[in-house]
Amino acid sequence: MLCRFATLATLFGVVLLPLTATRSLPLDSHRAVYARDTTAAPVTKTKPSITRTGLAGISSATTDIQGAVYFFQTDHTSPAMMGYALYNLQPHQTYSYHVHVSPVGANHNCTATGGHYDPYSVNKDAATYKCDGTKPKTTCELGDLSGRFGSIKANGDGVAMSPQLFTDSYLSVSNMNPVHGRSIVVHNGKGDRVACGNIEDIAN
Ligand SMILES: *[C@@H]1O[C@H](CO)[C@@H](O)[C@H](O)[C@H]1NC(C)=O
Repeated sequence: MLCRFATLATLFGVVLLPLTATRSLPLDSHRAVYARDTTAAPVTKTKPSITRTGLAGISSATTDIQGAVYFFQTDHTSPAMMGYALYNLQPHQTYSYHVHVSPVGANHNCTATGGHYDPYSVNKDAATYKCDGTKPKTTCELGDLSGRFGSIKANGDGVAMSPQLFTDSYLSVSNMNPVHGRSIVVHNGKGDRVACGNIEDIAN
């Protein structure tokens, strides 16, 4: 009777495991079953822990470049994480990218976004400025993302994906030194501003 009940229960996805049934329902072999009560409260999904997001949709008035630079942060005390995906770049070309101070206007003029975001005033002289990614806070403009994390390198198809999520302990998405409301500008090898976009909350 007990065995029949266990079989029936299993058919309904409920495995009841009375102590007396351990012989027929082995716990330690490939046929092992485990006590599980699906009538219990549904498993509560863990809330997504990412609370701050920033997404810059990148496009260009003068080239076909498109893509995105994204930021997220679990909370305002955690480092921001950042990545990108860009396409329609010139194959095998190298690009730099920065957070610029001001957002892109309606005419999508990437030149009208001001300079690189540099709240610590690290860049005192453009001629001698040299960002060392191992000393980001003292030698790099905060917004000098390619200086700190490496250039964007397009593959033969003109596509570039960030090789990893970069962790940024100094920039934040929306708290201190926020990237929200600013812009990302992509420069080609000659320094021309070839594409840009505003960093906005993904939820918008
Ligand atoms: C873009 O903005 C720059 C800087 O404000 C300005 O010099 C330039 O004329 C603008 N270009 C266009 C096409 O509006």
